[in-house]
Amino acid sequence: MSAPFGRGVRIAGTGRAVPACVLTNKELEKIVDTSDEWIAQRTGIRARHKANDSETVFSLGRDALLKALERSGVKADELDMIIVASVSGEMICPSTAARISEAVGAGEAAVFDLAAACSGFLYGMNMADTMIRCGRAEKIAVIGVEVLTRLVDWGDRSVSIIFGDGAGAAVFVADADPKKGCQYQEMHGDGRLWRTLYHPRLDRDVPAGDEANPIRLGHLRMHGREIYKFAVTRFQEAIRDALERTGLSVGDVQHYICHQSNQRIIESAIEKLKLPAERVYINIDRYGNTSAASIPICLDELFEAGRIESGKPIILVAFGAGVTWASCVWNT
Ligand code: UT7
Repeated sequence: MSAPFGRGVRIAGTGRAVPACVLTNKELEKIVDTSDEWIAQRTGIRARHKANDSETVFSLGRDALLKALERSGVKADELDMIIVASVSGEMICPSTAARISEAVGAGEAAVFDLAAACSGFLYGMNMADTMIRCGRAEKIAVIGVEVLTRLVDWGDRSVSIIFGDGAGAAVFVADADPKKGCQYQEMHGDGRLWRTLYHPRLDRDVPAGDEANPIRLGHLRMHGREIYKFAVTRFQEAIRDALERTGLSVGDVQHYICHQSNQRIIESAIEKLKLPAERVYINIDRYGNTSAASIPICLDELFEAGRIESGKPIILVAFGAGVTWASCVWNT
């Protein structure tokens, strides 16, 4: 879908918040039957942040938004909407967005949580662009935040080694130039594949056929290899489609910001599509897979480092549980 309306959208500011505690692969070796070498080779991960008891989806999301607001010059009570993308919130009711709204003083902004797993921030970003572009809103905050280390069974080495905690946020505002913001977006899902990654709380949540697996209730269950194969194909297709539909060549794009799920998935896209590797942002080595927080943390690091040039396109791509996937070509 290309940009149809008469005005554009700008990222006014970004922010991130991560737990102070860093858990390295070497430290993980003491609690899980794994090795630094295996994790680094198979995933690219060297360390991840891990929340302590007082760090929550609410507190990390709030802190990321406060930084984004400060950098954007937008006051909390000017926001029309706060979207929190997360699958690990402490409470289902009310939304984490509602509690964050109170904490930052966002008055009567619309608030809701969005459960699209690792694609959540990009779903939210695409929706924010569309809402603002068509004139239904002026200023929207999107937060991607997860504390997945609380949902993993540390004994399940195929799951516990990949996830990390953190939050990233961005404030989107209207811009007179329609060429600013999202020029192309896709959002998709395939519910037939939900069983590849899920979080069963009760026996009845466990799908037929998966009962024999040693699932501990209350912990994430992931069929990593299946997701891996799906992700490799979808990642490449999503980037190729985004380039073709916007008429961009691989070299026109200033940054490729991909969900940081496994470095090998990103590298396969670099190789297949001949992307300039130095323009494909990678920070999975320091954060692990932070699901909905992964893309906004990348964005914030790039903005903070002054590496986002105005007037040049960025391609963002994500996939995750559901399964879901999304992409966006964003003109800065
Ligand atoms: O964010 C969106 C959702 N999730 C993902 O994107 C994850 C996508 N999947 C992956 O990234 C990979 O599938 C994993 C990193 C999770 C697993 O890597 P893999 O190369 O697919 O490993 P595997 O599960 O096929 O296991 C291969 C071998 C097995 O040993 P045997 O049976 O060949 O002897 C496992 O027992 O590696 C073993 N293994 C490990 N060894 C050391 C699995 N996990 C570990 C581990 N440390 N942590």
